[in-house]
Amino acid sequence: MIVAEAWKANYLFWILPVVLILGLLALLALLGIFFALRLYAKLTCGRYQAKTRMDGKTVIVTGCTSGIGKETAKELAKRGARVIMACRSMEKAEKVQDEIVQSTKNANVVVKKLDLSSFESIRTFAEDINKNEKALDVLIHNAGYAETFKKNISEDGIELTMATNHYGPFLLTHLLINLLKKSSPSRIVVVASSLYRLASVNLDNPNPLNTMPGYLYYVSKEANILFTRELARRMEGTGVTVNCLHPGLIDTGIWRNVPAPLSWGLGLINTLYFKTPVQGCQTSVMLAVDENLSKVTGEYFSDCQISSLSSSASDMSRARKLWEISEKMVKLEENDPRI
Ligand SMILES: NC(=O)c1ccc[n+]([C@@H]2O[C@H](COP(=O)([O-])OP(=O)(O)OC[C@H]3O[C@@H](n4cnc5c(N)ncnc54)[C@H](OP(=O)(O)O)[C@@H]3O)[C@@H](O)[C@H]2O)c1
Ligand SMILES: *[C@@H]1O[C@H](CO)[C@@H](O)[C@H](O)[C@H]1NC(C)=O
Ligand SMILES: *[C@@H]1O[C@H](CO)[C@@H](O)[C@H](O)[C@H]1NC(C)=O
Repeated sequence: MIVAEAWKANYLFWILPVVLILGLLALLALLGIFFALRLYAKLTCGRYQAKTRMDGKTVIVTGCTSGIGKETAKELAKRGARVIMACRSMEKAEKVQDEIVQSTKNANVVVKKLDLSSFESIRTFAEDINKNEKALDVLIHNAGYAETFKKNISEDGIELTMATNHYGPFLLTHLLINLLKKSSPSRIVVVASSLYRLASVNLDNPNPLNTMPGYLYYVSKEANILFTRELARRMEGTGVTVNCLHPGLIDTGIWRNVPAPLSWGLGLINTLYFKTPVQGCQTSVMLAVDENLSKVTGEYFSDCQISSLSSSASDMSRARKLWEISEKMVKLEENDPRI
């Protein structure tokens, strides 16, 4: 009896510290993993270092009320460009405009209303630009919309993710192409995503009203790439280049529609691993300003470097088919420029 009691006391005496030490080690290991991941994210992040100025150049950035677009607009304003913020919410955009003008001391930043899910809004915006801007040096298709499960439809009867992320930019490009050509050498930059690999455009169903929007986000990002490649081909010899990019995985508003509990896991990954919007704008800025890229066209960039594409995304016959389908979907009018 006495021996057993003593052993028990003894046991408690050493088990507690052991548990404590093991717990501490586990905590240290977790912290180690946390910092290793953050360090990895930082080290693998391309940074655009060149100080190339943009004085006298006019740039349109779509969807720059938050995230990558906001930082892209700010960085281009810092380099002296005239920045046209093309946004659907004037209220949000004007706040960001104030912030950019204050922090960059460049007063040449304007806001114009553009809702990419609406053909009417796109036409009104383009008319304004064509009438009032003497030149357009860079058009950055940055705006993006992502929904997880909630299906919705645009006022033109098109599935909302595809309307906003693909058909809207397709129409806008047509309506601004003459100004871009007149301003050449000029550039078009398309913000796609490496997540395009998770899906594939269904060319037999250009308006996928019954498909899950979460999946269609990936589809729309492949459409961005096919669009870029076919546009680059059609622009050969005009002095207008077009490239697309993956910005990295960035902690922005694009994830705002993910419902709980999915959002909790995402939130954790977000804080551990995702990059900041400032890191996220680097590749967009590089494609907009870098002198060495003046002749590069039809490429896909990731982290400030040319990257390879899946065979499906680099299939030019698919790119051409999607183009022809899109021409019909956006209802090009008689006097609209053809590309
Ligand atoms: N975050 C990432 O990890 C990641 C990864 C790969 C690619 N991307 C791409 O990066 C681009 C920028 O997204 P973000 O991550 O910076 O997300 P974000 O913070 O949500 O920014 C998206 C922007 O698009 C605008 N927008 C949405 N629908 C629009 C419409 N119908 N008309 C005009 N503007 C509209 C939003 O305006 P409101 O403020 O009015 O909503 C917002 O300014 C997107 O093309 C996205 O696909 C992001
Ligand atoms: C559906 O999209 C329209 C824009 O086309 C928007 O005004 C409306 O609020 C959306 N509806 C829902 C339920 O999200
Ligand atoms: C352009 O390329 C040249 C030669 O490779 C290099 O020296 C220069 O730093 C590059 N310029 C920029 C802005 O990256």
